[in-house]
Parts: sequence; structure tokens; C-alpha cells
Amino acid sequence: RVSTLLRSIKISKVKLYDADPHVLRAFLGTGVEFVIGIGNEHVPAMVSSTVAQAWLQQHVVPHLHAGARITCITVGNEAFKGNDTALQASLLPAMHSVHQALGALGLQGRVNVTTAHSLDIMGVSYPPSAGAFAPGAVPHLQPFLKFLSATRAPFLINCYPFFAYKDDPARVPLDYVLFQPNAGVTDPNTGLNYDNMLYAQVDAVYSAIKALGHTDVDVKVSETGWPSRGDPDEVGATPQHAGTYIGNLLRRIEMKQGTPLRPAVPIDVYVFALFNENLKPGPASERNYGLFYPDGTPVYNVGLRGYLPPMADSQGARQFTQAVHVILLIAIATVAFALS
Ligand SMILES: *[C@@H]1O[C@H](CO)[C@@H](O)[C@H](O)[C@H]1NC(C)=O
Ligand SMILES: *[C@@H]1O[C@H](CO)[C@@H](O)[C@H](O)[C@H]1NC(C)=O
Repeated sequence: RVSTLLRSIKISKVKLYDADPHVLRAFLGTGVEFVIGIGNEHVPAMVSSTVAQAWLQQHVVPHLHAGARITCITVGNEAFKGNDTALQASLLPAMHSVHQALGALGLQGRVNVTTAHSLDIMGVSYPPSAGAFAPGAVPHLQPFLKFLSATRAPFLINCYPFFAYKDDPARVPLDYVLFQPNAGVTDPNTGLNYDNMLYAQVDAVYSAIKALGHTDVDVKVSETGWPSRGDPDEVGATPQHAGTYIGNLLRRIEMKQGTPLRPAVPIDVYVFALFNENLKPGPASERNYGLFYPDGTPVYNVGLRGYLPPMADSQGARQFTQAVHVILLIAIATVAFALS
């Protein structure tokens, strides 16, 4: 049903946080392209080439043989956000191991291996030309960038202008974070004008990568979004603002716009998330990033009126309710808009 919903709104790329075989099977024959994930808890074990190869044999190979499109594997998510030093130390060896295992299975070049970072890895992000990674993250990122460059894999970053606005609503202009018309800000070093914060964040990451000596690594936004509800202290979390953010972002994607630093490279953005997640812990915003309610009705109107097929019978209904719990919690969490 979710596969039908996504096709009805012309979504052609989906990012999962795991590699649930039921989800991948449900999309067979649809042409939808998947980024799948190895959870942080499994990263240390992947350092072993035997474990990496077994994981691929189980989670990737059968789906590729059946015709699924899996173009990228993220090894861990936001590993440098916390202080899990065991995870951080094993991240790059695990990526090497997964990459080598792909080669051993004859899949080199077919599936990218990378990880997704939180914007917390940035030390300086304004102006974009001065973008630099936090000093503590540099020793990890230096060899990581060498790996991405050598394997031609993209750098993934999770960007939430919402957090910047929520933290300082008096000083961060709402129009600037919501892609609304505004004068923007000019980078004094490059003279480039930024009319929205997301592009400034992406270009700051490009600058930080360049400062470590690389100009050949693509930056993609592996998560962005805006919550439609929040706790009283989560300023800006409303359906109006969420609809404006996502609607304007869709228009930019449709225009195949690039950032001021890379105007010819259309931004590649995954939107978090497909559904509201009723069981997710944390502040109210965490449960309200979805474009849709579980029954397929849109949370706000950005012209995405999808079709979720009805449930066949009460037995099916019960199964769907169970399946949705899984989906809401761990599976389909991010969708990319590639409007055709
Ligand atoms: C990690 O940070 C948390 C909170 O910031 C702290 O409670 C915990 O002791 C830290 N763990 C380690 C291993 O440093
Ligand atoms: C891997 O990432 C690179 C860099 O972004 C991209 O050009 C290439 O198409 C990706 N490969 C696949 C199989 O998607």
C-alpha cells in the first residue's frame, strides 16, 4: 500500500534506516531507488569481512537479483553526534570492509558505501565560504574523505534549518529558513547571495571538505524536514510552516536548482519523513515530521494528494496496523523527491 502511495505522488527514491526485506520486496518492479542502512548497533561487527559479506548476502544480493534498485548503503547514522568512541573508531574500518565485500561479490561500482552525518560535525558554518569541521571531528573525517574520494561515494549530511530557528527565533529570519522571498545574506568572501539557510549549510559543508583538500566529493542532504507540531517551547513547529518549508523545497527541486557554490549541480534532498511516528520518544516534534498520517491523508497541503489503497479485509487491516508500527518506527523514514 505504501508503495502505491509513493508512486501516486511520483516519489522515485526512498531512504531506509535498515534493510527490511519486506519493504524491499514490496517495491520490486516499481523502479524506486533505495538507500539502505546498517544501524549503529551493527557497525562494530561489520569490521569483520566475513560479517560484512554475510550481511550483504542476506540483505542486498537477493534483492538485487530480484531486480531491486539499491544504490547506496549508509554504514551508521550520525556516528559523531554522541560520544560512542567504539562506534566512531569502527566506522571507517566497517565502511572499508563493506566496500571490499561488495567487490568480492562482484558488485563494485553498483552500490555506494557512505554514512550520514549530523550538522553537529561542523565547527564553523557561517559564512558558507568559511565552513569548517569541528576540530574534534577532523581526525575522523580526514581519512573518511579520502575513502569517499577514492570510491567516488557521496558525503551525506542531515540539515534542519528548523533547529536554528527554534533555538533563536528572534534573530533567525523566518523567511530565510522557509525559502520565502527575502533579501538573503551575502557571503563577504565570495560575494554569493544566499536566500535560504539550507543552501548556506550545504555550501558550508563543501567549504569544510575543500579545506581538508577535496573538491571531488558530492554533498547530498540525507535528511531535512520541518515538524508540523511541537511542544510549547518548540517555536515554529506548525502545519503552516511545515507546509511552506516542504512546498518551497519541492519547487526548488522541480527547478533543478543547485546551491550558489554549485549552481549546475541540482540539490539531492531526502525529506524526513514519510509518516508521523506515533511511538517515537522525545519532544512532540519528533512524532510530527511526517508528510502523511498513517491512513495516507496529508498532514498539510503541498499538493501531495496520494492514493493509499484500502485494506482488503479485517484480517488485512490487523496486519496493516502491525506492519505500520514497524514502518513508523524503523522502516520507511525518509523519502527523496525526484519529481518526474
Ligand atoms: C557520553 O555523554 C553522556 C552525556 O553527554 C554522558 O552521560 C556519558 O557518560 C558519556 N559517555 C562516555 C563514554 O563518555
Ligand atoms: C555514487 O555516488 C556518486 C557521487 O555522488 C554518484 O555520481 C553515483 O551515481 C553513485 N552511484 C550509484 C550507483 O548511485
